[in-house]
Amino acid sequence: MRKKLKNRRLFAVLFMIIVLVPLIPLALVLIQSDTDLIALPPPDLQGHLPLSYAMTSPGFSRMLKNHQATLSDIGQLLWALQGITHGSRFRTVPSAGGTFPLEVFIAHGGSSSLDKGCYHYKPQNHEIERISLNYSQNDLLSAFYEEDYEVVLNVTTVFFVHAEYSRTTDRYGGRGVQYVHLEAGHAIGNFLLQLTSMNLKTKVITNFTSEKIQELFNTTFTPLVTLPLGSSTDIFSISPVHHGIHPSDEVELTVEQAISRRKSVRDYTNGTIPYAVVSNILVESTSIMFLIGNNSQLDVRLVAGEVNGLDSGLYYFDLGNKSLNLTSLGDLQSELQTAGLNQSWIGAAQLDIVISADIDWINSHTDSVYSHRVLMFNVGMVAQNVYLKCASYGLGTVSIGAFYEYDVANTVNSPDGFVPFYIMPVGLTMESNV
Ligand SMILES: Cc1cc2nc3c(=O)[nH]c(=O)nc-3n(C[C@H](O)[C@H](O)[C@H](O)COP(=O)(O)O)c2cc1C
Repeated sequence: MRKKLKNRRLFAVLFMIIVLVPLIPLALVLIQSDTDLIALPPPDLQGHLPLSYAMTSPGFSRMLKNHQATLSDIGQLLWALQGITHGSRFRTVPSAGGTFPLEVFIAHGGSSSLDKGCYHYKPQNHEIERISLNYSQNDLLSAFYEEDYEVVLNVTTVFFVHAEYSRTTDRYGGRGVQYVHLEAGHAIGNFLLQLTSMNLKTKVITNFTSEKIQELFNTTFTPLVTLPLGSSTDIFSISPVHHGIHPSDEVELTVEQAISRRKSVRDYTNGTIPYAVVSNILVESTSIMFLIGNNSQLDVRLVAGEVNGLDSGLYYFDLGNKSLNLTSLGDLQSELQTAGLNQSWIGAAQLDIVISADIDWINSHTDSVYSHRVLMFNVGMVAQNVYLKCASYGLGTVSIGAFYEYDVANTVNSPDGFVPFYIMPVGLTMESNV
């Protein structure tokens, strides 16, 4: 009897060793796939394409050829949209009060490096979380209008920027909505530059049926923009000969270096900034693809303090012929600082850029909520370029969205119907190379 019991125990132990132990790795894989987190390769922070060239070679195209993205392509673009770059949580784009309302998703049709499915970017560990394996192409297409069908149908990977408005509106009330849209514009701007650096393209789609996209990703976050990933159908190669040239002989930063060094800087050192640098920042930062309207809906003004080659005063930057025109002489920076809730960096900087947009034009549209949102994307894209140009010159800047609109408009003599959305001080720092 006792012998029988012993044999049974021995059998049980042998069974565990022979049958169950080999199953442990499989169980671990299953547990891991249950968590559905996929690590992305670290982003390339060096790149190769100088920022100026990318800024003057837009990464968009109406028609796209499919591009089979690798996991590192996908990771790089997700990083440009929302990757963590400084501190423990600050990102490639600014965020009002660090409220981080943006969330990025992708729908991927399947490739050797990533299974077909819907994924959610997790910036903290630079990884993606699988929301669903597989999805119906028809469900995806049903979210779009006819003019965008073909482009979405043709590509394997589609990026989506969503927003959780309450993160920002809980802090800033109704104004938070505007802040969220500006932030999305910053992210779109980065995405386009990153694409250009990778010789890839997108069509920026801002009009779709939100509910369908929310269903696809099983989320309540509001989709703001869809970015299908492809390459151009035109023969296109980047050559410095055809693009803007950096005014100094310094080798400027690449797209990736500028994005990774972008941050808000509010402490400036004394000195002057050369006019050529200011002019280059204005010209290149405003060379954006307008997602709605054209450059006549934007107004860019310069309040110059310590600019070498420019008298202190107010200047109007003509977006059409890219020229700077004197409006009035005198020190307006302290008045602008007062209108800007006395944020001292406005007065301390060598100059301030004020970006306004034509709200009367928006209000004349049937869907003014949509038009307002997309116009804010335009403003955000310009402001992101200012950040990146400043990073490239080692200058400090910050996108200031909190101020008395009426007073700022008065100070910079904004045209009728235009409302200021950003004040961007630009100041010297210890790292400046101008
Ligand atoms: C829409 C918007 C409004 C902002 N308003 C202000 C502001 O009024 N004053 C300020 O100093 N910074 C402002 N910022 C900058 C944020 O405070 C900054 O982006 C955030 O602290 C994260 O830091 P980072 O830009 O270095 O990543 C704003 C940023 C955004 C996107």
